[in-house]
Amino acid sequence: MNNTSIVPKPTKMVPGIGNTDVALIEKILVSTNDESEIKIARMIQKLLSPVKDLSIEMSQSKTPNSIFVVLNDESGLTNEGYSLAIGDGNTIELRASSYSGLFYGYQSLRQLCGPELEIGNIPKTSFIPNVDILDAPTFGYRGMHLDVSRHFFDIDFIKTYIDMIALHKMNVFHWHLTDDNGWRIEIDRYPLLAERSAWRVDRTNEPWKEQSPVNGKEKATYGGYYTKEEIREVVEYAASKNIVVIPEIEMPGHTSEVFAAYPELSCKGSLIPVNPGSYWPNVDIFCAGKDEVFEFLENVLDEVMELFPGPYIHIGGDEADKLHWRTCQKCQKRIQNEGLADEHELQSWFIKRIEKFIISNDKKLLGWDEILEGGLAKTATVMSWRGMKGGIESAKAGHDVIMCPTSHCYFDYYQANPETSPAAFGGYTTLKKVYSFNPIPNELSDPEKKHILGGQGNLWTEYVQTPKRAQYRVLPRMSALSEVLWSGPGSNTYDDFYHRLNSLEDRFDVLGWNYAPGSYIVSINVDPSSNNQEHRITLSSEKPGETIRFTLDGSEPTNESKLYGSPIVINGRTMIKAALFINNEQKGKTSEKIVHFSKAIGKRVKYNTIYKARYSGSGPLTLVDGLTGSIAHNDNYWQGWQKENMDVTIDLLNIEKISKVSIGFLESHGSWIFLPTLAIVSFSNDGESFNQKVEIKIDDGIRSGSANRIELESQDLNLSARFIRVEAVNRGVCPDWHPGAGGKTWIFSDEIVIE
Ligand code: ACM
Ligand code: ZN
Repeated sequence: MNNTSIVPKPTKMVPGIGNTDVALIEKILVSTNDESEIKIARMIQKLLSPVKDLSIEMSQSKTPNSIFVVLNDESGLTNEGYSLAIGDGNTIELRASSYSGLFYGYQSLRQLCGPELEIGNIPKTSFIPNVDILDAPTFGYRGMHLDVSRHFFDIDFIKTYIDMIALHKMNVFHWHLTDDNGWRIEIDRYPLLAERSAWRVDRTNEPWKEQSPVNGKEKATYGGYYTKEEIREVVEYAASKNIVVIPEIEMPGHTSEVFAAYPELSCKGSLIPVNPGSYWPNVDIFCAGKDEVFEFLENVLDEVMELFPGPYIHIGGDEADKLHWRTCQKCQKRIQNEGLADEHELQSWFIKRIEKFIISNDKKLLGWDEILEGGLAKTATVMSWRGMKGGIESAKAGHDVIMCPTSHCYFDYYQANPETSPAAFGGYTTLKKVYSFNPIPNELSDPEKKHILGGQGNLWTEYVQTPKRAQYRVLPRMSALSEVLWSGPGSNTYDDFYHRLNSLEDRFDVLGWNYAPGSYIVSINVDPSSNNQEHRITLSSEKPGETIRFTLDGSEPTNESKLYGSPIVINGRTMIKAALFINNEQKGKTSEKIVHFSKAIGKRVKYNTIYKARYSGSGPLTLVDGLTGSIAHNDNYWQGWQKENMDVTIDLLNIEKISKVSIGFLESHGSWIFLPTLAIVSFSNDGESFNQKVEIKIDDGIRSGSANRIELESQDLNLSARFIRVEAVNRGVCPDWHPGAGGKTWIFSDEIVIE
């Protein structure tokens, strides 16, 4: 029996008996002369050509030894659904009610065939397993995004990216065409966009966040843009694979590249070079007070809408810094004339004005979740990226929503150990995490849930310089996302997916698609059943079924080290080292953690303020599990408080002598995580009156741009107490120098050690 692995997994698939032998198949039959049937028949013909040259003929019914392609509106199959029946007299029958259904049936058939066929080679076996499939997607919107501004990708790769989307039965390509680091679409009316805004000084040999400033004499040689001809070619190519292309033209922020060509459109009006790297604070913005800005945008959008036949135009709307709007006379005048309360309402007014224009052209506006701020017309669709919250609010307000929260859908984030991975933007989103994504929040009522159209994987390319790296970032995480969106969240297990993914990766190999090996990290965690009597540590990986070996004496794990089976019981400070072994060979780096054994271990933590559910660490033991976090804030060792102070009390159960209290904090400004401005540790014997107090003052939190774990300690204590209360004061809002100025700051803590 051949491999029956298909990703995304079909809704219903029953394996039959035996195989269909391609060598015995005589022809491909189409039930009518419909163009859709012919197109799909040609794809099958090409796929199987290394084994056999098959003719395409018309026939009302199938005959033995044939492949029968049937487009039938009355089949009862939903728009993108299909049925595929293999077997029964050496026949293959593919049915659907639309071209897209036939196309997805073809994608499944393709995955049932040997991968060698992909490149025109004779496969190891020409047998196709006999299966019966009845399949349809859960979500109608299954998208992948690509930022071509931070790095430019030519249309050859864009087509490959579309091939990748198609293999995964996804149906949207969100093309992020404009941003601060380059404008990528030819606009006839504004030729300087292609001439100037598409090019920047080459700094590819410097890290993105540390690029040296551009001096006026340097030539802008790095970049590129797509001609209209190329764009039409891509749109047509995508359509043949049932993929809609959504163009994104950013506004009002993330637009500084425009001012390298048309400086008069910004508030400041000064000419600035296209920035070759990180650019914070990102303050240059379209002036909302100048009518010529809207004239420009409408003219640009006219040309864009002409190129993209799909229903949506994405207008960005994210991270618009209002600094210049606050001091610009024209913007302030607009606020006055339109009776707006402030710059936030000015942004809302800006978006609504553009929306009117888009609607008047029979298109729908799509934008990042910031567009919701200050009100929005009902017809706008919101892309929720700053978590699910924007999506929830939008759905409640009656908007359609695409979910792409950073937590699960940002494929520019690390997917494995940052220390051994190519540099990424930050974050930490493993394959397993992506697989656990559920685009439908529980908070929504059934009618509100209907507004969640689906989800999308986003690839920002600050740290993605080449096509190979782009593939590495999205493969195989998009495979996991495709299954969530097609088969439905939670409909299959991660373990089952993981085994099917192995087959899919054989296909990536043949196709020459680069993919990440995934995380070999062994996670060291505390078992929830731990308590102050018995501290139990668990080991796990995202490669189910593979062997984990570990040591407790500080030595490197080897092939002979202890095999992990069940939680390890710890009763003192312990160094745990663990690694994954595949075919008796260590894969990836050894994971190690010291379990800090302190008086707090396994004790009850009372939360006087509660951490945000999204950053709950590993649960109630997080702060007293002896385990510290990495610099990745979402590695499940950290708990996070937003805007609020952290305020917890640990009950040691008995009055104990205390010499030291130390608290682990994270600073990661890129993720809006700051050190507290002050930490107060107070002590009590009864849990009521905390009359002994130690304060730890902290500087204002401006350190480097990189993430750090900081331990704050109060040492040389000489006191006794049963209750220890830790309050960490949140600075509240991001400081002026930060891109999120005024936004809510986080405090992250991983561990409290009491000695
Ligand atoms: C975004 O990631 N700024 C939408
Ligand atoms: Zn202005």
